[in-house]
Amino acid sequence: MSAAPQRAKRNPEQKNRRQGKASPSSGVLARALPVTTASEWSLIKSRFAFYGHPQAMSTAPSRKIFVTTALPYANGAFHVGHIMEYIQADIWVRFMRMRDHEVHFVCADDAHGAPIMIAAEKAGITPQAFVANIAAGRKQYLDGFHIAFDNWHSTDGEENHALSQEIYRRLRDNAKLITTRSVEQFFDPVKNMFLPDRYIKGECPKCGAKDQYGDACEVCSAVYAPTELKNPYSTLTGAAPVMKSSEHYFFQLSDPKCGEFLREWALDPSRLQPEVANKAREWLESESGLGDWDISRDAPYFGIEIPDAPGKYFYVWLDAPIGYLASLKNYFTKTGRDFDAFMADPSTEQYHFIGKDITYFHTLFWPAMLHFSGMKVPNNVFVHGFITVSGEKMSKSRGTGISPLRYLDIGMNPDWLRYYIAAKLNAHVEDVDFNPEDFIARVNSDLIGKYINIASRAAGFITKKFDGRLSMHWASAEDPFLVRLRSAGDEVAALYEAREYGKALRLIMEQADAINAYVDANKPWELAKDPANNAKLQEVCSRLLESFRVLTVYLKPVLPSLATQVESLFGISPLRWEDAAKALPDQHAIRPYTHLMTRVEPAMLDQLFEAPAAEADASSATPGIEALAEEIRIDDFAKIDLRIARIVDCEQVDGSDKLLRLTLDVGEGRLRNVFSGIKSAYQPEALKGKLTVLVANLAPRKMKFGISEGMVLAASAADEKADPGIYILEPWPGAQPGMRIR
Ligand code: MSP
Ligand code: ZN
Repeated sequence: MSAAPQRAKRNPEQKNRRQGKASPSSGVLARALPVTTASEWSLIKSRFAFYGHPQAMSTAPSRKIFVTTALPYANGAFHVGHIMEYIQADIWVRFMRMRDHEVHFVCADDAHGAPIMIAAEKAGITPQAFVANIAAGRKQYLDGFHIAFDNWHSTDGEENHALSQEIYRRLRDNAKLITTRSVEQFFDPVKNMFLPDRYIKGECPKCGAKDQYGDACEVCSAVYAPTELKNPYSTLTGAAPVMKSSEHYFFQLSDPKCGEFLREWALDPSRLQPEVANKAREWLESESGLGDWDISRDAPYFGIEIPDAPGKYFYVWLDAPIGYLASLKNYFTKTGRDFDAFMADPSTEQYHFIGKDITYFHTLFWPAMLHFSGMKVPNNVFVHGFITVSGEKMSKSRGTGISPLRYLDIGMNPDWLRYYIAAKLNAHVEDVDFNPEDFIARVNSDLIGKYINIASRAAGFITKKFDGRLSMHWASAEDPFLVRLRSAGDEVAALYEAREYGKALRLIMEQADAINAYVDANKPWELAKDPANNAKLQEVCSRLLESFRVLTVYLKPVLPSLATQVESLFGISPLRWEDAAKALPDQHAIRPYTHLMTRVEPAMLDQLFEAPAAEADASSATPGIEALAEEIRIDDFAKIDLRIARIVDCEQVDGSDKLLRLTLDVGEGRLRNVFSGIKSAYQPEALKGKLTVLVANLAPRKMKFGISEGMVLAASAADEKADPGIYILEPWPGAQPGMRIR
């Protein structure tokens, strides 16, 4: 490989721009700004070269790349923040694949830790079953937003147990970086477990306010340690916690060799984003230096056992990132690839997309764990900011977020969100705001008005007047029209690779503007009025369609499903990046044009943000909780015959987007057929074999798909936007099919 060229020196003006001071990604004004100045462009080029891949500017040779997104905690459904991260990474992965690189893109559920263990216990199921339920709900989001993961696994998988223990052994035995120390901690004597700080409350040591958490007082803002709380209690049992000591295991990051390695890794100017590197420098050069990291937790804990340490488990943040490798290994095993060889190959590149809140773990602990256990260290960690909605931080409890499922349910196009998020993203750790008016404007004016417009202006004439044939005789390599469009390709590519998606899209839309100017100058609809113009009309429309095809190459990482439709319109194989430079052959025939994408209706945004039902209903006492129904007597209740039912079988119902067909055993010596509107919440496979609750004496009901003999009970929030989930009931262990519930 050739030596890395010198990094360009920045002048102050460039620096401001790079730091996003002019915020080029927001608002209407920004769209008038120049896309990339020549000096910025040379800076981008020099950064790439610095990554050690001077060949990034061309498509060959193929690189081997391993990409991950952060592993979401398996204690809840995805929110739009997760989806934003997946879209950012997915665009990058799709782009790299279009460049013919070998990309492996994986994720997994982050299954371990005290909160999940406690949530499972409250639900009366094992943590494994709890996590499996969450996992069963993932696919509909990933498919819905076209996220192309190769694999989805769990940090509780066997690969992760083995890899985590192996990495630990190497840190202990080879690097000699594990030590033990006795730690005093609050212990819940009723539950017999050490209490993570978040489960301790008490009175503020300063102002005496009740029910304060162990870190800071919400009333007087005093900051203190949990041990300073007065009259502390466990939020799990209410018991007064006692101090108890236990032996903990530590990863000795205070060892000078760790600091030395991390300074080399994290402060390499070609690696982290400038603002991330600054943070890392703060951490690494702080006076106190790096402290040792407590990596153990005492039983009971849902996690991975520490070798040779009975009753001790790895703290969830130790095994979570190892889950990246475990998911890749699981995928490689399933597809007959060699995981060890891939990871041992020095040319394999490894990248992690994460949000800003977990930077510390990924830029310090994770590279150190890998390096000192003799594993490949990440080439880079790409950090993004948070998504806000109309300028407000997301809060699931207040319901100001956007529900990704609701977005899909009300028929909004996933490519709109992908486009919008891409248009707002850059390579910095800046928050991204979802603003409804801006969303409508960008989708309708740019995406539809500029890009889709080109095809819809031209395709009809080609079909009607020329039997679908394109005339391409003009399309020589020197044709100025094509030269201009194609020459944007390298810059667009570099911007995608640098995760400057907003700039890439602005550059593409500038090309679309130029093509639309050509439409206006040549007015195909005028030409079509006189058959004497036919040759001209065919050429004009062919130029438009060819340029539309090239634009589609450029937009495909962002708009994968739209690109598929365009490929089918043109009857061509899946577009790769190099296809931008190869014109269609003369007389190539296209298929009849059907509309490619509809406009966003403003009413859809109203639907997406509809006021929560609970807010609209002033009579309800607790926000988010429905008002109680009219009082009944016990004999009213006795009329309802509720039974435990076993779900013997469960399947999709052809032609219904709401229903699942359940075959239930209610202990009657026969099976019942019941339809239930829970398709959005459950995968049929996940329900098979489970117990649930059936209203067994409901009159049978004839439905379009057959007769339903009863009704399965399910909970749902009054405010579907805050929580669109549907939750069926599962009895505690021991209940048998046919038992009556009273
Ligand atoms: N389980 C850990 C990650 C372990 S990685 C080895 C975790 N999970 S999380 O579910 O809380 O977050 C998953 C990802 O979503 C993180 O990268 C996080 O930064 C990101 N986001 C969470 N809220 C977000 C927004 N509001 N906006 C954008 N991304 C956000 O952390
Ligand atoms: Zn206080």
